[in-house]
Amino acid sequence: MKKNLTLLFVLVAAFAACAPKSEMDRFIDEIMGRMTLEQKIGQLNLRSAPGFISAERVTEEDENAKLLRRGLLGGIYGSGNPELLRKCQEIALESGAGIPLIFGMDVIHGHETVFPVPLALSTSWNMDLIERSARIAATEAAATGINWVFSPMVDICRDARWGRIVEGGGEDPYLGGEIAKAMVYGYQGRDAEFDTDEVLACVKHFALYGGAEAGRDYNSVFLSRQEALNGYMAPYKAATEAGAASYMSSFNEFEGIPASMNRYLMQELLRDSWGFKGFIVSDATAIAEEVNHGIGDLQEVSARSLKAGLDMDMNSDGYTGTLEQSLKEGRISEADINRACRRILEAKYKLGLFEDPFRYLDAERYAAKVYTEENRAAAREIAHECQVLLKNNGVLPLSKDARIAVVGPLAQDAMAMTGTWAMSSHGRESVTLWQGISEVASASYAEGSWLFDDAHLEENVRYGLYKAFVPGFQVPPIHSVSQQSLIADAVAKARKADVVVACVGEVPNMNGEGSSRTDISLPDAQRELLKALKATGKPRVMVLVTGRPLSLVEEEASMDAILNVWSPGSEGGHAVADVLFGDVNPSAKLTTTFPRSVGQLPLYYNHKNTGRPHPDDADYKKFVSCHIDEINGPLYPFGYGLSYTTFEYGPVTLSAAEMPLDGSVTASVTVTNTGTRAGDEIIQLYIHDIYATSTCPVKELKGFRKVHLEPGASARVEFELTKEELSYYNHDLQWVCEPGGFEIMVGPNSRDTESVTLTVI
Ligand code: NOJ
Repeated sequence: MKKNLTLLFVLVAAFAACAPKSEMDRFIDEIMGRMTLEQKIGQLNLRSAPGFISAERVTEEDENAKLLRRGLLGGIYGSGNPELLRKCQEIALESGAGIPLIFGMDVIHGHETVFPVPLALSTSWNMDLIERSARIAATEAAATGINWVFSPMVDICRDARWGRIVEGGGEDPYLGGEIAKAMVYGYQGRDAEFDTDEVLACVKHFALYGGAEAGRDYNSVFLSRQEALNGYMAPYKAATEAGAASYMSSFNEFEGIPASMNRYLMQELLRDSWGFKGFIVSDATAIAEEVNHGIGDLQEVSARSLKAGLDMDMNSDGYTGTLEQSLKEGRISEADINRACRRILEAKYKLGLFEDPFRYLDAERYAAKVYTEENRAAAREIAHECQVLLKNNGVLPLSKDARIAVVGPLAQDAMAMTGTWAMSSHGRESVTLWQGISEVASASYAEGSWLFDDAHLEENVRYGLYKAFVPGFQVPPIHSVSQQSLIADAVAKARKADVVVACVGEVPNMNGEGSSRTDISLPDAQRELLKALKATGKPRVMVLVTGRPLSLVEEEASMDAILNVWSPGSEGGHAVADVLFGDVNPSAKLTTTFPRSVGQLPLYYNHKNTGRPHPDDADYKKFVSCHIDEINGPLYPFGYGLSYTTFEYGPVTLSAAEMPLDGSVTASVTVTNTGTRAGDEIIQLYIHDIYATSTCPVKELKGFRKVHLEPGASARVEFELTKEELSYYNHDLQWVCEPGGFEIMVGPNSRDTESVTLTVI
């Protein structure tokens, strides 16, 4: 048998060797045949653009420019300046082997036109809408000269302390997979060709970055392979299935090996098992950081990263600085370099850059397609579906005839609408909540409070980024007006109004990269404002701006309504006003659990059972799995969100109570709009494997539908179930469906489900 297998391998290898080469392969063979070793290593080098402030600054003295003139850069990232990019491309073509550059950029939730932050987009549960946002972002980026976007970020996260939870699609691997596909299709299109509105996607951060211990950014990840595969990997895998052209390795370690040199992740899983064919870039300085992880000096970690399958070095100068030496010492082979170089040249070939290196640099397209009225209108429409109504005792929607006091430190903050990672945005032009409301109703404004009581903290949060990157930055005065007078002004305005809209929460630098928190309640100063407003007795609506789940127990008890708008983007203020006044009925649902307290974290709906389970809403009991001082349940569960109308769910039925392993059944439910307004409802299907050979989560999302229903109308919704939906990675890491009983649950959120039993035979 072994002999036969060996023979088979030899035959396959021989066949592959004689298989006719594609045009691309022949083209790249030809180029690589005339490249020097140094030039090949140069292709593996990606540098950020900060030295390139303007096209004029691309001078001989600049370090990047020197590398460029020697043909030692494969790409540049971080600039959205078309003249600068054109200049760089011209130099690249005249230098070294004359190979065009690729231009990367963190286009995360839009480019110049900004959409809601990714976590907000995910709460739409609308894949067409998410794809559309990515397509507009790609169109704008491509018209600027950028042909490679560092998105989608698909890291699953179960811990709201992690600031980067804002950049992903939440805590669920199935939903995350659907989102990953939609984003990749939006950026790259659905076929293998790249037209000039399409760019390379870069799926990040590979892998498991969202599992950072204690939610502290860049921290270690401790997950078993089985848990990683079941709970975290689906979105990364789905992105490969959708044809993603590149991946970015993550900063964390996995199984004691930094991800950027982790052969299991990059070679065995991504390439060998999933079939990924593109190239992998490191995260910024991630190779150099492997020295801090305690693996070796820059030469050692660079060699190991290359051998493990990492093709491109972002900003570490590890490859350009050390690979030639490693080759001489036999630590790597020329084949290792050639393999990585070929993958990068293939991406350039697919983008059409060898045919026309300037095809993404077109001044007319830039003028016609970027930050247009049309794109802004799309941003407003998209933001309509990304606002989660967390509480409403009937105060919403507001009447346009009401006198409204708009208060709070975020009510006139355009950057809070824009959100994190919006480097090319017109951030300060984003429509504020104050603008949105005051354009349509009679309104007064008061800032209402500081951001934080602690001035030092407030300074770091507001200006930390400038302090880190702008030499000699002068911090403007903090707390120049006293908190008491800010509150007094807000209270006075509230007393004269019919209703108060308080805009509170997080400014962008409170979430995103390097912005983890240990306290995820509203900052103290803002809570003080809310208390003072309560004392006025006026109806109070809280508009929450945030990039993460917060613990809102106090606010849930004291506010009349809470509308979570996240950071809603360029047209945020308009889109939020549309919902507040009822022109749009909110439909978004949470994709992350909102805990009651930070001490519950990590908290996620698809957890395992313990041997001593305790109901989510039950009080403390000794010797069962719970805390003394808090119930187990969340404040708002995964999948939760209200509407201005109500929906009633009929019983869940199955087309058959038994399903042969290779067969299928249909689960159905009828949902009726029982209210007086038209609305959209997101219907969710969960499964639970009752007895399995390994432990399985108590619930797992396996399907969802978003339906529009007029008042009184019903929809019958069907979900097809096959062994695919009922499978998991068992202890031997095999993807299996194990015969036996499964609970099939349907409902409006992960908590309030009805279930039936299905037996797989
Ligand atoms: C570091 C971040 O982790 C990553 O998401 C980003 O794409 C790179 N920097 C480049 O800006």
